[in-house]
Order: sequence, then C-alpha cells, then structure tokens
Amino acid sequence: MCGIIGYVGQRDAYPLLLTGLERVEYRGYDSVGICTTDGTLHLLKEVGRVEQFKNKRLPGKQGIAHSRWATHGGVSQKNAHPFIAHDAFALVHNGIIENYLELKEELIEKGVVFSSDTDSEVILHLVVGHYQHGPDKNLLAAVQQAVKQLQGAYAFAVLNKDAEEIVAARDGCPLLVGIGERENFIASDATAFIEHTQKVVYVDDFEIVRVTKDALELFDHDGAKKNVSIVEVRGNIEVAQKQGHPHFMLKEIMEQPQTIAETMKVELPRIGRPKRILIVACGTASYAGLLGKYILEKFAKIPVVHETASEFRYQEPLFYPDDLVIAITQSGETADTLAAIRLAKKHGMKTLGIINVRESTIAREVDQVIYTRAGPEIGVASTKAFTAQLIVLYKLAFQLGGKKFEGKGIATLIEETLKLEDRIKEIAQKYVHNNHFLYIGRNLFYPLALEGALKLKEISYIHAEAYPAGELKHGPIALISEDMPTIAICPRHETYEKMFSNIQEIKARQGKIIALASTGDERMREISDDIIYLPKADGLLTPLLVAVALQLFAYHLAALRGCDIDKPRNLAKSVTVE
Ligand code: F6R
Repeated sequence: MCGIIGYVGQRDAYPLLLTGLERVEYRGYDSVGICTTDGTLHLLKEVGRVEQFKNKRLPGKQGIAHSRWATHGGVSQKNAHPFIAHDAFALVHNGIIENYLELKEELIEKGVVFSSDTDSEVILHLVVGHYQHGPDKNLLAAVQQAVKQLQGAYAFAVLNKDAEEIVAARDGCPLLVGIGERENFIASDATAFIEHTQKVVYVDDFEIVRVTKDALELFDHDGAKKNVSIVEVRGNIEVAQKQGHPHFMLKEIMEQPQTIAETMKVELPRIGRPKRILIVACGTASYAGLLGKYILEKFAKIPVVHETASEFRYQEPLFYPDDLVIAITQSGETADTLAAIRLAKKHGMKTLGIINVRESTIAREVDQVIYTRAGPEIGVASTKAFTAQLIVLYKLAFQLGGKKFEGKGIATLIEETLKLEDRIKEIAQKYVHNNHFLYIGRNLFYPLALEGALKLKEISYIHAEAYPAGELKHGPIALISEDMPTIAICPRHETYEKMFSNIQEIKARQGKIIALASTGDERMREISDDIIYLPKADGLLTPLLVAVALQLFAYHLAALRGCDIDKPRNLAKSVTVE
C-alpha cells in the first residue's frame, strides 16, 4: 500500500512523476505529494487524488513522489508524503515502521521536531541525523545506518537537494529500479515508468540502492556491493487505459473471455503428488482458494486445508513432510500471504504460487510458480484475476488427479454470461435502495456467495453477508425481512433440492429472492422475485459464470449509486501492510 516513484535524469521530473503517480495510485489514494529539486526543494502535497496536480508544475530534473494509503496518522495534508527536513532532504515511504514510537521519543529527546503523526517521518530524521553526524556527509552511508534501527516493513526513497542521486531501501515492500538512457527511475511497480524503459532491477529485502542519472549501485546493509541483475519486463501502456469503458472494473469484467482463454493455455509445471495441500491467501484470492479446496478434494482426492493468510501466519500450523503449501495472489505482494509462505518455507515445506504479477515478491520466493494470464488488473476490486485463479485451480486439480481439464467452450460461455448485462442492470436498478443483502450458496457455490458479497461491499458500500445456505437456520435467518433481499445461487447441481427448500424458507418469511439459476428452471422462476438465467453449461464451469454475473451485479449497483468504483474508499489494490 502506498505507491512511490522517483526520477533522476535529464528531463523535467514533474510530468514523469505525475504520470508515474497515476499508475501507482491504485496502491492508495488518501493523499498525494511530489517533491522535486533543482538545488532548492519544491513541494506539493494535498489530501485527495493525483489529478489535482495535473495543471501544476515544479522545476527540477530529479524528484520523488508518493500516493498514500493511511496507516499511522489520519488523512491530512501534514501526514501526506514527501516529508522534508531542513529544507534539504525529502523522503517517501511505503510500509509500517513498528518501532517508530520508541525511535520518535529518542529523536524528540535529541531535539528533533516532527511535523506529522506518521511513522514514516521517523525514517527521514534518522537518515538526516546520521548524515549530519557522519564523517563525510554521505546519504548512502546515512541510510545504511538508519535501516539498522528500523523494525517493520518498508520501501523508502530519500534525496538531498544538492546531490544528483536518490537512495532507496527495501525490506518487505516492493521496490524496483527502471533503467533508462541517461535517466533512472525507482518505483513500487514497473507500470510507473513502463513507457520509458522496460529494463528493470528488482531490489530485494535488506538491499539499498543508490541511483544517479548514469548509474545504479546496489548494497547490502553492511555496505558490501552486490551484483545487479537487469530483467526485461513485459507490458504495454494500453492495458493501463480504460479503452472506452467508464471504469477499469467494467473493462476487466469484459476481458474475461480472453483472460480465461489465455489462462486455459497455461502449461502447469510438474508437481509431485503431495499428501496434503495447504492453501493460503487473502480476500478474493482466498475465496478462489476455497473453491479450489472443493475441486482439489473432489478431483485430485487430496485433503486440503484452506487458511486465511493473516490468521495462518500467527497460528502454530502443523506441517507434515509431504505437504504442499499453495499461495494464491493476484499482486504477488500481499504482506500476509508473503508471511505465510515464508513461515512454510522456514518449516522446510514445498511452496507453489498461483500468481498474476510476474516477478513479484511472492513469485520470486516460492519454489514453483503458475502464472495466471489475467494481464494487469487495475480496478481495485479483483475480477478477471479471480476467474483466472479458478481456471488454474481446476487445471491443477485435474492434473493431480491424473486427468486433463478440458474446460470446453468456457470462453464462449463467459461471453454469453456477459450478454446478461442489461438484465442484471435492470435488477440492480430495482434494488438500488436496499442497504443489506444476503448471499447464499451450497457446495461449489458457497465460495461464490462469499466473493459476490465481497464485491458488493467493497465497491457499493452496501452491507452484504454470505452464508452456506444450510447455515441460515442456525441464526442468520433472523435477519430475513422485506428489506434484506437474498441472492440465491441455485443452478441445477447436487444440492439443488436443498437450495430450493432454503429459498422456500426465506420466502415464507417475506424475504425477496434474486435467483441465479439454470436456464429454463421454471420452478425457480415461480418462487423467486427476480431471476438471472445462466447459460447452459457443464456443472463444473457454472461457478465461473456465476462469478461474472455477480461481478456485473455489484458493478451496476455501485454505478447506480454513484460510487467511485475503481478507487473505493479505504481500499488499496496491493495490501503490503498487515
Ligand atoms: C477484493 C480484492 C482483495 C484481494 C486481496 C488479496 O476485490 O481485490 O480482497 O483479493 O487483497 O490480494 P492479492 O490477490 O493481490 O494477494
């Protein structure tokens, strides 16, 4: 969370930093700031989005910038980055410094005056202190000293107004360098500079990088120089544009016939048959994992433990020698998922990542990776990454079960589901004033209920709860009233009759039903208030169609309520703090 970018080169830094900020803004958008230098520091920082800086300018061929997702300290101008000290040093930070209170007290005792409530400002004053007391006024040496005092997670960048360099350091948050012609960038994500260079150096944990317009040097915390390895990243700028759609989320929903078809082509690596699988993930990826558990147990006949990564990392999980730990993650940067993988590796477990972003931190740490081919996902609410994760899990379950997942006609089926958009919008219109929704499903459709409810919550701010339908009578049925409609995921399936009974129980209590059902299901039409008929498909493929229909429902409800769909309040795309 929080996006950082820096530039040092021959061109005006401001426009480059501004475009870079727009690209990393998905990482947080509480406040925004840019600092450039031409021998004097120039600073702009405000609460709100980067677009407010579009018609402004700052001089200088070097600078750093930041878009914030607030952790320590409220959303305010004083807590916006960059932070400045002595009109000479500027710093931007992504992460959390856990021992900042202790460090802050020590600094205050030494006479340092703080201008913000953030943990980040502590780093700046530590660096400046070491710089001023160091023998040779050396920014790199000062950063090397400062990082030894930090506990927590960080990627930060610092500059001095008089030196043509940026020094940046990483532990636990993404940081990379883009190498251009007589210019260099640092950023949280390569999309920040992808149109200027595709040559990238990934900075690893416990590394410090010094970047000038002509050079890049990498060091460890003790000052020893490290080898630099340059990789070419793929990517183009079109994918980072909406291409006529009002929101990235809608564009990404509509891309699913292609992203699913592409992911179907993925060749899985050879994976030995484990005795047990542990799946760790967060949010939407975790719901993909839950469906994965059902599918893996059904087709591969391997027991699966499904864990939320943020819980798993603080439990004392039991590992057995032939376990395989699978991390599912779009970004490959989620702090809790990364910590869960590190814990598994510490216990000597074999790890596999199902990941969308190439060369991301988790991709580089797991033993084996399967990349989903969803392409860059920019909308904060995950859509095409989810369906791509499901495809990989299906393929994996079949491979481990000694079979091949055919997924026949899946791309066409998704296209047909997308054609339901008008019908879904019509239903969304009818329920636009409802503030509570219940989502229910059984078996393969229960994880879809969870995912559907999450989509609705995060982009429309409507309260939604998901339950396995059989659980209703154990409490949640008390919520049922005319004002709390239920989305019932009830295509024909082994548990269809049970779902039918649960729906009747809701109707008997004046609850409204929006049913997602198999085409032609008259019985379901009669009992429900509104029905979305899903295209006729193989039972195993139906969850993918349900996913798409529920994405469209959440999208249109949020759009009708005028919500900021691509940047919902309080959220960020890449969750690199715990
Ligand atoms: C919801 C959403 C989040 C992410 C979660 C994990 O739409 O996007 O719940 O799924 O933060 O992110 P990744 O997959 O990047 O690990």
